Amino acid sequence: MEVGRLTASSMNRQPWHFIVVKSPETLDQLGNLARSGLYIAEAPLAIVVTIEKESPFGVSDASRAIQSMVLTAWGTRIGSNWVGFKNLSDVGALLDLPEPFEVLAVLSFGYPTQTIGQGKNSGSHWQKSLPENDSDNHFQPQCKRM
Ligand SMILES: Cc1cc2nc3c(=O)[nH]c(=O)nc-3n(C[C@H](O)[C@H](O)[C@H](O)COP(=O)(O)O)c2cc1C
Repeated sequence: MEVGRLTASSMNRQPWHFIVVKSPETLDQLGNLARSGLYIAEAPLAIVVTIEKESPFGVSDASRAIQSMVLTAWGTRIGSNWVGFKNLSDVGALLDLPEPFEVLAVLSFGYPTQTIGQGKNSGSHWQKSLPENDSDNHFQPQCKRM
């Protein structure tokens, strides 16, 4: 969470609040509420990332903090993923989130059960290609090979 805390934000407003969840009961509840991340129930740790509702930079600033936390985790061979996108009001209620905040996402953390890089997404073919000639100064289509 330290890398999230240190993330640069617009005007250094830091319009986020992070909630660490370690209790197995609460992790189980998070897994049930975040339908696109049922696996949170199996994780030993989650960080719920909340943002100030009124901040115009909440999403972008907190997304940078999320990226830092997720990449730092993977860099130490701890698996992590982003779950949800502002559709988690039940999670806010569960965690007694006060009114100025809303939940942006839940991050799960845990040791991967499979070898890293062996998944179906591995390899550069999964990502959009770069433009063929990136010095042409105009829009060029990028294809997504799937
Ligand atoms: C804004 C955002 C929302 C996401 N929401 C979910 C989610 O609800 N559940 C999930 O399992 N993954 C979620 N992800 C993870 C993406 O699905 C994943 O990063 C993407 O498919 C690429 O896969 P990779 O990270 O393994 O390369 C989200 C990622 C982003 C950036």
